[in-house]
Amino acid sequence: MDVESEWNGIKAEILACSRCPLSKFRTRAVPGEGNIRSSVMLLGEAPGKSEDEEGRPFVGAAGRLLNRLIEEVGMRREDFFITNVVKCRPPNNREPRPDEILACSYFTDRVISLMNPKAIVALGNYAGYYLFELRGGARWLGVTRMRGRTYRLPVLGSTRLLIPTYHPAAALYNPQLYETMLEDFRLLKKVVEALESGTGLLRFVRPGGRAG
Ligand code: URA
Repeated sequence: MDVESEWNGIKAEILACSRCPLSKFRTRAVPGEGNIRSSVMLLGEAPGKSEDEEGRPFVGAAGRLLNRLIEEVGMRREDFFITNVVKCRPPNNREPRPDEILACSYFTDRVISLMNPKAIVALGNYAGYYLFELRGGARWLGVTRMRGRTYRLPVLGSTRLLIPTYHPAAALYNPQLYETMLEDFRLLKKVVEALESGTGLLRFVRPGGRAG
């Protein structure tokens, strides 16, 4: 089966999922969207109100800010695949709970394995914790300490470049973070260019094997 057909199968399962209590509150599940063949995944936290209504990730205010960041560094949203650690909206936009993240990891992991991205942008602390602590075998020290560089870690069977940055909603509440996020998206652009030119990701590895 090709990647698109497999993704359509996973998507149908997400839309019908009742693995955790969030399914009872949702209007629509938000499986994710974009180019499933892209070498870069953007991983967020959980759908908000607009996403729950539309069934698409990052379509509300945080999504518009994300689009602006992507466009400002000369890239296009459609070039990436975008999904969230949790696929259904937590009531009143509360933070997702560990049991919900774990239940949804059944899908998160399958999408990462299917897409097999070379790089993953962790949008905020939930995505960072998931990728570093739960899947990458590394400590997650919080986005403020972790952002601004890349990390090369084994995630679900392959070495991937992880690029942590703030969650776009953080820059809505604190506009000064926009410039900081822009720096991280410029770094993402360099990673994308290295991937496209076939020069590989080795130049993002610091002496001693740490990426950066
Ligand atoms: N915040 C997220 O983490 N994901 C979305 O899809 C929208 C807002």
